[in-house]
Formats: sequence, C-alpha cells, structure tokens
Amino acid sequence: MPVIAVIGGQWGDEAKGKLVDLLAEQAKLVVRFSGGDNAGHTVINPFGEFKLHLIPSGIFYPQVKCIISNGVVINPAVLIDEIAKLNERGVTTDNLFISDRANLVMPYHLLLDGLEEEARGGKAIGTTRKGIGPAFTDKVARLGIRVGDLLDKEVLLERLRFALNYKNAILTKVYGAEPLSLDGIYQQYCQYGERLAPYICETTIILEEAVSRDDLILLEGAQGTLLDPDFGTYPYTTSSSPLAAGGCLGTGLGPTQIDRILGVFKAYSTRVGEGPLPTELKDKTGDLIRERAHEYGTTTGRPRRCGWFDAVAARFSTRINGFTDAAITRLDILDTLPSLKICVGYELGGKRINYFPASVAALEKCQPVYEELPGWQSPTTDIREPKDLPSEARQYLNRLEELIACPISLVAVGAKREQIIELRPLP
Ligand code: IMP
Repeated sequence: MPVIAVIGGQWGDEAKGKLVDLLAEQAKLVVRFSGGDNAGHTVINPFGEFKLHLIPSGIFYPQVKCIISNGVVINPAVLIDEIAKLNERGVTTDNLFISDRANLVMPYHLLLDGLEEEARGGKAIGTTRKGIGPAFTDKVARLGIRVGDLLDKEVLLERLRFALNYKNAILTKVYGAEPLSLDGIYQQYCQYGERLAPYICETTIILEEAVSRDDLILLEGAQGTLLDPDFGTYPYTTSSSPLAAGGCLGTGLGPTQIDRILGVFKAYSTRVGEGPLPTELKDKTGDLIRERAHEYGTTTGRPRRCGWFDAVAARFSTRINGFTDAAITRLDILDTLPSLKICVGYELGGKRINYFPASVAALEKCQPVYEELPGWQSPTTDIREPKDLPSEARQYLNRLEELIACPISLVAVGAKREQIIELRPLP
C-alpha cells in the first residue's frame, strides 16, 4: 500500500479535504503536514458538513489514525475548539495524535499578523490574520514554542519569558501597542497543555510503524503550490511549503517513501487574498462561477477571486511537485457555460511565454493566451462512470490532461463523498 500525498495544485481551496475524506476510507493514517488554521477544509459526509482547520480530514473514520505533524503551526485554542465541536457531533478524536515538535501559534503572533499587514498598507498580503506568518518566522528564528514545551511547565515559562521580552519590545517600540502579560499567557497555555496532553506524542514512530506495515498513508496538503514561499507568487504567499516536498520535511518521511503524489486542481482558478491571478475574470462569468460554487473563504468568509483554468501555472505545479496523478474538482460548476477558456500561454512585453514567471511584477503584466472549447451545458452531478460524461466534458478533461502533463485519475462533480468519477484507480 502506498504513501499518497494530496497536494493543492493552484492557490489553495482545491477541495483537497473532499478527496482525503474519500481516500481515507481505505487508509490507516492521515497526516496534516504544513500550514496552520489558515487552512479550511470543508467536508460533507454522512456525519454532516464540517469545516476543519487543523484536524486531518480522515478524523471521521475511527479506525484511521490522524496526525497533526511537526510541519504544522498549531493555535491550541482553535484546536481545542475543533476537537470539542467534533465530539459534540458524535465524532471521536481518540484517533488524533499531535506532534510534540509542532510549533505553537501564540497570542503575539495573531497581533503581529494584523499589525504587519496594516503596516504594509496598499501592499498588504491579504493574510488570514491567524498568526501563521509570525509563527513560522519564530520557528526559523528559533524563538518558537513547541507543543512538547506545553508538557513541561518550567520549560514553557522559560521559553515564553524569553520570546515575550522580545515580542513586547516589538509590540511597544515598533507598533506603539500595549505589551502582553507573561502570566496571562503562561496560565492560559498551561491549561491548553493539560487539555491537549493526551494527544501529544512522538509522531514519527507512528509513521515509521505504518510504513513498515505497508499501510496506506495519506499526507494531507494545505493551501496550494502557488502559495509556496519559494515557488509561489512571492511575497503574496503563505509561510510554509504546501508542496509534496513539504510533506517530507513536515512529517519526517524521506522523499523515497512517498509513492504517489496527487495534484488537486479545480476545473477553473480561484484565489483569496492579494497577488496575481493571471486568468482572473472580473465580469459576469467570474461572478457566476463564484455564486454557483459558493466561492467564499472557509476560514475568513472573503469572496474568492475566480478565473479560467491556468494551464501554464498548472504545468509548473506538476513539475515542481512531481505529480503522478491529478484530480480535477468542481467540474459541475462549469455545467451551464456555453464555452470554456483554458490559458495555454502568456503574452509578456509583446512576446509569448510558456512558463510561470518568478516576478510578481512580470506576472501582473502577463496577458493570458486562451484556447476556447465548447461547454457541455448539461448536469454532471449524478455521473459516476467516465463513459457517461458529455463528450465536451471529456474533451475539456483530455485537453487539461495534455496541458498539465499528468494523468487525471479522479474527477469530482459535487461536494458529497460519492460525487466522484474514477478514471484510473487510486491507490
Ligand atoms: P497566511 O497564510 O494567513 O499568512 O496568508 C497568506 C496568503 O495565503 C493569503 O493570500 C491567504 O489568503 C492565503 N491562504 C492561506 N491559507 C489559505 C488557504 O487555506 N486557502 C487559500 N488561501 C490561503
């Protein structure tokens, strides 16, 4: 049984949670490996509709172990609330394990996220303001406080005192804000530690055991490739790597241990927050996609920007992740459109280019070069067999497959678990 990484191929919100929820039925382990509660995974299954931010989408199967691994930054208040909400609705979290190496989101991270955004003025990133950037900054600056520190109150106090001295200086001297109280945060985080203690452990051992038993393991990506701090639209990116490679660093698995990498793409493009989206539609078609698909952020409720499928960006995504399979989600959203466009290149400074430029300034000047295909104008939501797809939908999928240079294994035609068409077996 393989290790499969489920990775967002675009700017996040590709409906990865739905696929993980589906694939988890056969899995033994599901691992969230990057980001934090900036992510929002909507899952609709027999338990109802859930919006998960930190807990892996495999949690609905009690036999599946779910890990929040070292690569995630955890806001304990959010996690405790998520656990409580699941439990209230009859979903057990006894199968949840939290890495003692994961860094914590602290109250000053939340404050600084907002203050830094405001200081950027017109150049704000449009972050989710969940403190994610400042928490990852502290991790690499070696100022972070880790989940394991919650289990030793002396260590927690020492690390917090050190970090807070520094943070309070920034809050007061740079931003003119009020300092935070050491005792208040310490007491609160001690309580969080007591509540989370049963879940905290060395998660790499659970992974190692599952790998040696040849269990099916899912690595659940958060955000999307084009929000990666190295390869995305920097600086309009997030702060940890949503790439398949991030699935190694964020879990402790070696690169040779990942067998399949499933790139998840929506049948069109969306982005929430600032930064370039070359195929953005600021017209009726964009509005129609947004409303039909209810494209509003799971975490912040912000309207998502919508546009045509960008195959230049998608091919880049395939290359830097090494996708072995692709999934196309939300195909049904395009059901009513008379024709569809796919971006197959960009025009930059009068020249045609076929690559995704590193520079945001260049990307903002790129004019998409489109290919137009006929729409199918019939509902696909009840289709389960590839042979029942309208020929225009098949044509659209075949063209996407060629352009993104990766075989399409799954096509989602609705939010529910069963609304999926399997073109090739996975796993
Ligand atoms: P941050 O991750 O909150 O710092 O936000 C940085 C950028 O990533 C902003 O453009 C956010 O809108 C975007 N972002 C972060 N998490 C997600 C997500 O789960 N889906 C889509 N966009 C996200």
